[in-house]
Amino acid sequence: MTLQGRHILVTGAGGALGSAVALACAAQGANLILLGRRQQPLEVLYDRIAAAGYALPHLFPCDLSKLDEDQAQTLALAITQQFGGLHGVVHCAADTGALGPIADITGKDWHRLLHLNLTAPFLLTRPLLPMLASQDDAGIVFIDDPASHGKAYWGAYGVAKAGLVQLAQTLAEEWTAGERLRVATLAPAPFRSSLRQRIFPGEKPANLPGPEPIAAFICRWLSPPGRSLTARCFGPADFDAPEIPQEPAAAGLSSQQPISSPAAVSGTSAPNP
Ligand SMILES: NC(=O)c1ccc[n+]([C@@H]2O[C@H](COP(=O)([O-])OP(=O)(O)OC[C@H]3O[C@@H](n4cnc5c(N)ncnc54)[C@H](OP(=O)(O)O)[C@@H]3O)[C@@H](O)[C@H]2O)c1
Repeated sequence: MTLQGRHILVTGAGGALGSAVALACAAQGANLILLGRRQQPLEVLYDRIAAAGYALPHLFPCDLSKLDEDQAQTLALAITQQFGGLHGVVHCAADTGALGPIADITGKDWHRLLHLNLTAPFLLTRPLLPMLASQDDAGIVFIDDPASHGKAYWGAYGVAKAGLVQLAQTLAEEWTAGERLRVATLAPAPFRSSLRQRIFPGEKPANLPGPEPIAAFICRWLSPPGRSLTARCFGPADFDAPEIPQEPAAAGLSSQQPISSPAAVSGTSAPNP
């Protein structure tokens, strides 16, 4: 189990990619903190993880479009106190809002979408950096949507995604020198999800691939052998690539006892199944 003893925070965990990432990481032994806007999809995911016999995750319902510095600090503190450390963050949460011309975007929608898709990943990541950087090996994953960059009608979502890529690249420049904290940007091709269905309602979901190969790649990248993947941006060709060969050095990485209590990080926890 390549993620045994590692603690990983997944945002947008109730969504298509977030759930797939959570299940893939849980199957590899990770202890998960699952952040999502709505409680119900998080509880569904909790039940799937519990039914599979994996370590019970900790749920953290949170509207990222309203996240402020204090809440982000509180989450970081709760993770420190409850887990004693963090080895990975996967930023999957996103919303496109109603797509349309820039001329039609209200200031309120602009602020909400920029906050959710760009500012919240920054606010969330910043207080976690010391904890991540104190590990022998830790990683942060940002999800781009390259189809939205500089294209008509993608509005604030496309602008935020372009900014997110810059944020990820800047962080990668600042942190990958020592190779302890790695930063990656993933640029997936369209996959089946409610976000995709909302913006392309005429598309048949069955004609799109699921998010599982992307999730499996994220899981591999976060694991010790993922260190050998030195690129900072990854796309569809990487997701279909064969397994990464195991490194002998992986045995030297830090590990911690799995958390035995299913209590939530911050007051909200799914009931025991
Ligand atoms: N699907 C594609 O074709 C595609 C292509 C390229 C990139 N991407 C990217 O892939 C990532 C995952 O998207 P997905 O396709 O899996 O979409 P999804 O199934 O709709 O998942 C999006 C997740 O974001 C969460 N979210 C939305 N607004 C939030 C808020 N205000 N606060 C907290 N969480 C919020 C949703 O939670 P609730 O359900 O509770 O609202 C949901 O769990 C996104 O970054 C997206 O931009 C997707």
